[in-house]
Amino acid sequence: MSERILVCVAWPYANYLLHVGQAAGAYLPADVFARYQRLAGREVLMVSGSDCHGTPITVSADREGVEPQEIINRYHPRIVEVWDRFGISFDTYTSTLTENHYETVQDVFLRLLENGYLYTKTEDQLFDPEAERFLPDRYVEGTCPHCGYTEARGDQCDSCGSQLDATDLLEPRSRLTGATPVLRESEHFFLKLSALTDRLKEWAEQQTHWRRNVLNFTLGMLNEGLPDRAITRDIAWGVPVPVDGYESKRIYVWFDAVIGYLSATKEWAQTSGDPDAWERFWKSDESRSYYFIGKDNIPFHTVVWPAQLMGYGELNLPYDVPANQYVNFSAGQKQSKSKGTGTWMLDLLDVYDADVIRFYLTLIMPETADSEFRPEELIRTNNDVLIGTWGNLANRVIAMINRNFDGVVPEAGELAPESVEILRETTAAFETIGERYNTCQFRIALQETLRVAQAANRYLDDRAPWKMVKEDRDHAAQTLSVAISVVNGLKTLFHPVLPFSTSQLHEALRQPGTIQEHGWKLNELAPGTQIGPAVGLYKKLDVPEEANGG
Ligand code: MF3
Ligand code: ZN
Repeated sequence: MSERILVCVAWPYANYLLHVGQAAGAYLPADVFARYQRLAGREVLMVSGSDCHGTPITVSADREGVEPQEIINRYHPRIVEVWDRFGISFDTYTSTLTENHYETVQDVFLRLLENGYLYTKTEDQLFDPEAERFLPDRYVEGTCPHCGYTEARGDQCDSCGSQLDATDLLEPRSRLTGATPVLRESEHFFLKLSALTDRLKEWAEQQTHWRRNVLNFTLGMLNEGLPDRAITRDIAWGVPVPVDGYESKRIYVWFDAVIGYLSATKEWAQTSGDPDAWERFWKSDESRSYYFIGKDNIPFHTVVWPAQLMGYGELNLPYDVPANQYVNFSAGQKQSKSKGTGTWMLDLLDVYDADVIRFYLTLIMPETADSEFRPEELIRTNNDVLIGTWGNLANRVIAMINRNFDGVVPEAGELAPESVEILRETTAAFETIGERYNTCQFRIALQETLRVAQAANRYLDDRAPWKMVKEDRDHAAQTLSVAISVVNGLKTLFHPVLPFSTSQLHEALRQPGTIQEHGWKLNELAPGTQIGPAVGLYKKLDVPEEANGG
C-alpha cells in the first residue's frame, strides 16, 4: 500500500458556473476519496485549479466583447465558493495564470523539445476570411468525420469522444462569422505521439486495475495508432511559446492545463515552506496519483498527459484514472456546460445542506453508466434514507442515553451474542468498506455503510431499550452502550461522504480533536464517557406538490 496519494481533479474552465454533473462526476468522488485516504492515515495532496486559457475562455470573452481576464475574474471566485460550501477539501486550488504555472509549462515544453519529442511543421489551418483570423479549436464547428455528429467542435466531438483537429471537420463553419473557413498555412509545434505509442501501449496494457471503459477506450486509441498533434495555436491568449519567432502564437490549452497537476504540486510545496516537497509526490515509488475526471477528458489523461510525462522523464505516470460517465437531468437533457443546460451547484447549495447533496450524488454517482439527477429523489433520499436509516439511529441512541443515563455511556456487562455480533460487523466494515473506497467504488461503499446502519437499527429494535429500561435496566444499558459505539463507528464510516454532519455528531459525542485524528477504525466509547444532548443533524424536507402528484 502506498504511503502518499496525489489526488488530481480536472481543472474546470473559468468561464462557467459549476453544475451538478461536474460535481458528481469529478469533484465529489475526488473529495470522498481524499477524505477516506486521510482517515486511513495516508499523506494526501489534493490539487486542481481554474483552467483559464484556450478557446473556451476566449470564445466567451469575444461573445461579450470583454477581455478573457474579466471572464476569469467573474467565475474563478464562484468556483472557489462551491469548494468551500460543498466541502471539497483541496489542499491547493490555484489557476493556470500563475507565474509558477507558466514557468512549469515552459520547462516541460523545452525539455520535450530537447528530448526530441517536439518538432515544427507548416500545415494548412482553418482561417476565417471575413474576420481575418485563424480558427483554432472551438472557433469552428462542423460534422464529425467519425460519427457524423453535426455539432462537433474543432477540438473534440462531444458525441463519440474523438479528439479532432479543426481541419478534420466536414462542412466546417466559423463561430465568429458563420463563414466557411478557407485554408491558410501556419507553422506549429507538434508533439511526437507516434514515437511514444509503443511505450504507451505497453504501459496501458498493465493498468488492469483501471475501470474497464477507461482501459478499453485508451487501448482502442493506442491500437489505432496516434497521430502527432499540434500543441501551439494562432491565438493571443495562453502560455507564450518559449522559442524565438513564435511571439504571435500560444501553447495549446490542453498541453498547458494537464501540466497544472505538476505546477499546483510545486505551488503547494513552495507555500508549505519546503520547495522540494513536490518530489515526494512525483518522483517516489511510495506515491500514487489518481485523476478524477469526466469521460470526455479520458484521452488527455490516459494518453496525452502520460506521453508528456514519458517525454519529460523521471515523473510518475498516473496510477488510476477513475473517469465517470455523465449525470443527466430528469428531462432527459444532458448536463452540458458548453450547451448551457444544467443545475448550478451554487443554486442547489442555497436550497439544501451540502451533506444532503453529497449523500444523494454519491448514491447516483455515474461510475459505470450515465445516471439521472431528480430533485424529488434527492428529497426522498434525504427523508427515507439519510434520516430514516442513519440520522434517526444516531439521535435515538443519544437521546435515550441522555434520558435514562444522564448522558453517560453505561456499563455494558457481559455481552449477549447479538451485541458481540453488531460490534464485530461494525469492525469488519472498516476493512471491507475501506477497500471499496480505496478502489474508487464510492456508490457501493455508501450502500454498504447503510447496511451497517440498518443492522444497527435492527439490533436496537430487537432489544427495545426504551421498553427494557423499565423491566431490566442492565439489558437496556448494554444495548445503548453497544449502540453508541456502533454509532461512533458509523460516524467515521460515513465521514468521507458526510463530512459536515458527522463532524457535528463528533462534537455532540464530545469527542476530542477531529474525526480524521481518530483514524479509520471502530473507536468504542468507553463506559463513563459523558456525551452531549442530541442535535438535529438533518432536516426533513417537504416533497414538492408537482412531484407528489406524479
Ligand atoms: N478544463 C477542462 C474541461 O473542463 C478540463 C481540464 S483538466 C486538466 O473539460 F487537468 F487537464 F486541466
Ligand atoms: Zn464524433
